[in-house]
Amino acid sequence: MARALTEISGGSYPVTFSEVHKTVPTSNTLIDVDAQRAYYSLFYETNISDSTPESRSSLIKRLESVRSSLPPGGVILDLGAGKQILEAEHISQFGTPKTVYNWRGECVYAYNFLTVDHTPLRPDQLLAHDAPHVSHLKASGDQLDPIRDASLHVALSNLALDFMPRKSIEELHRVLVPGGRVFLNLSDPRSTIPNNLDDAYARMNYKMYGNRWTRKKPQKTEDRRTLLMLKNKRMLRDAKELFETNEQIWETFTSYGFSLLSVTNCSQEDSDGWRMHWWEVDLEKPPIENLVFKA
Ligand SMILES: C[S@@+](CC[C@H](N)C(=O)[O-])C[C@H]1O[C@@H](n2cnc3c(N)ncnc32)[C@H](O)[C@@H]1O
Repeated sequence: MARALTEISGGSYPVTFSEVHKTVPTSNTLIDVDAQRAYYSLFYETNISDSTPESRSSLIKRLESVRSSLPPGGVILDLGAGKQILEAEHISQFGTPKTVYNWRGECVYAYNFLTVDHTPLRPDQLLAHDAPHVSHLKASGDQLDPIRDASLHVALSNLALDFMPRKSIEELHRVLVPGGRVFLNLSDPRSTIPNNLDDAYARMNYKMYGNRWTRKKPQKTEDRRTLLMLKNKRMLRDAKELFETNEQIWETFTSYGFSLLSVTNCSQEDSDGWRMHWWEVDLEKPPIENLVFKA
């Protein structure tokens, strides 16, 4: 497998193939990418991450199951990586990605992280910025144009891919090598979207702007961030992009040409008794031999 992956990443694979799927669903236009960016720009001014440690350690564990089979120079994509918290935690567990040579001086092992996020982040905000073999690209998941077709080997996304327009799944499929693996944690609306969302939004809006008789200027940054967060959650709820069932996950990812390896609904109770739910989804872009070749 490693040999085939290296050939493809070098751009020398000789055949043109038409993938099993052809009808890709149209991109969901209800996702307001600018609203997301506005919220996370403010959020990252004072916070390091918007995910639980458990969700990240599960991703790191799943990544470890394939990391040693990456070809030399293999690239691990982290889509919606935020401030590179996952990479920082990976480095604190396993050290910085290193290049290993055999006795003949040939590179036998090396991997790279490529983090992608559309929120503008300064280099000093990126936690693994100084680490070797970690690069960052500011881009939206549905516009990965700077990344060549079939050039990345593994992809991760922690509670982020389902916040992006659906075209991001098509882009993910495009940039991965055949046989490339994907490890996702996806939000479960039971924990992400509170029942009283509209009330909470109306109350916060009133607190900040008053009504038409008591109109006032917004005051605190903290309030502005809360309002943007609630607005974002309403947008996500109305866009109906978050996955509620295994079947929706299966249908969506297979329609973009992925094979589903496993789906698990996980939950964890925090110290305040709040139960957090999320989906763990492992996928594969089918290897060359499973693809339908053009005559
Ligand atoms: C819930 S946070 C998770 C961040 C990080 N993966 C973690 O574990 O802390 C969602 C992230 O997705 C990013 N995001 C949302 N929509 C995006 C898009 N269209 N393209 C790229 N990144 C996006 C946000 O900027 C944010 O950093």
